[in-house]
Amino acid sequence: MSEPVRIGLLGHGTVGGAFAALISERAEAVEAATGRRPEVVGTLTRSEGDFSDILERSDLVVELLGGTDPARGYVLDALRAGRPVVTANKQLLAQHGEELFGEARAAGVQLRFEAAVAGAIPIIRVIQESLGVTEISKVFGIVNGTTNFILSEMAATGAPYEEVLARAQDLGYAEADPTDDVTGADAAAKMAILARLAFHTPVTLEQVAFEGIEQVTPDDLAYAKELDLSLKLLGVAERREEGISVRVFPCFLYGGHPLAPVGGPFNAVMVEAPAITEVTMSGPGAGGPETASAVLGDVVSILAGEAPVHETRAELPVVSDVTSSFYLHLEVADRPGVLAKIARVLGENEISVKSVVQRGIGEDARLVMVVHECLESRFASSVEEIARLEELRSAPRSIRVIEEEFV
Ligand SMILES: NC(=O)c1ccc[n+]([C@@H]2O[C@H](COP(=O)([O-])OP(=O)(O)OC[C@H]3O[C@@H](n4cnc5c(N)ncnc54)[C@H](OP(=O)(O)O)[C@@H]3O)[C@@H](O)[C@H]2O)c1
Repeated sequence: MSEPVRIGLLGHGTVGGAFAALISERAEAVEAATGRRPEVVGTLTRSEGDFSDILERSDLVVELLGGTDPARGYVLDALRAGRPVVTANKQLLAQHGEELFGEARAAGVQLRFEAAVAGAIPIIRVIQESLGVTEISKVFGIVNGTTNFILSEMAATGAPYEEVLARAQDLGYAEADPTDDVTGADAAAKMAILARLAFHTPVTLEQVAFEGIEQVTPDDLAYAKELDLSLKLLGVAERREEGISVRVFPCFLYGGHPLAPVGGPFNAVMVEAPAITEVTMSGPGAGGPETASAVLGDVVSILAGEAPVHETRAELPVVSDVTSSFYLHLEVADRPGVLAKIARVLGENEISVKSVVQRGIGEDARLVMVVHECLESRFASSVEEIARLEELRSAPRSIRVIEEEFV
């Protein structure tokens, strides 16, 4: 019999409980793959276990507590004590990644975190190992299942945001306090991690600009359908001439885009690089057993050997004013010359219109247009100017659009 690998399990909630069950179910398979049989030798919850004692008795620590405190201290202590660590904690990585990577490098032990981004999708492994020396130009996708479920339901049923959010909470797709998901903050933490790995440059959560989905109306979705657009909350990390840009925002995609059909609580991530064109992966982004399966995969990788050391290869600035294409929704007085006035404002800012849908609503008209890619600051000042036109009946609404049409 080989020596067992003794696992210290921090947290026994949704993921921790599922991981404990999975470890005993798959122990034989892990032994067959790695030569060592895993065994949970201690579990820490708020009411059970002592961290120092668990650390002392384990060969490897699995952190599934969530939050940064006390998780950060425990993970640092484990690494310093020479224990490899597996964590699913995106907040911890997004806020303290450099410190943890540094500690893991110094101690010469592995720190793995596949489950921290996009649940069961092995995107971390692909970026840091399969594409570890490939010049990645862009990583983007749907990295929050709650908001994807809400947007898919709003598009399918025409129901308003609040009603669909309540349904998502009933079905367990949204937490009682959904703030982190619906504001884009959860996706921002995941994008900070992906950007760090893809571009080998430090990126922290504070550098990620994010917008959520609370302002999306059924109207936006109905009009977008006519333009063959579907709405997703996208995380986008990309190389730009001046550095990198890392952002989260609601965004329309054309029907042929690989991310357009990804509905419900699913996640999907695309990686673009000149050498590979693009790779798309989709799957469940959360859930106890799904996330636990990613955690177990990391345990197996640790037992199998070497891992990336997360060296910084560049110090790239994170830029904020980039170019995007936009959907613009305007309610205006139905009078001759209004469209011309709006076109003039856009034209003066060198913004060209790709498509327009116009509808009469009594005395007023709705104008829904998609404009070609332009500098975001120019678009924002055009919208401000348009908002001041006396013919405007309500505040303009705009949402970004990914213009590429995949066919
Ligand atoms: N749930 C998912 O689908 C999912 C998906 C991807 C990643 N994740 C990540 O996985 C991690 C765990 O999430 P979860 O959903 O399993 O959370 P959870 O259900 O709330 O479980 C957290 C566990 O940690 C324990 N805990 C929390 N604070 C503690 C403290 N200060 N001292 C000791 N024990 C403490 C809790 O103890 P008690 O049992 O005593 O309360 C509980 O057992 C998080 O980082 C989360 O972001 C979760």
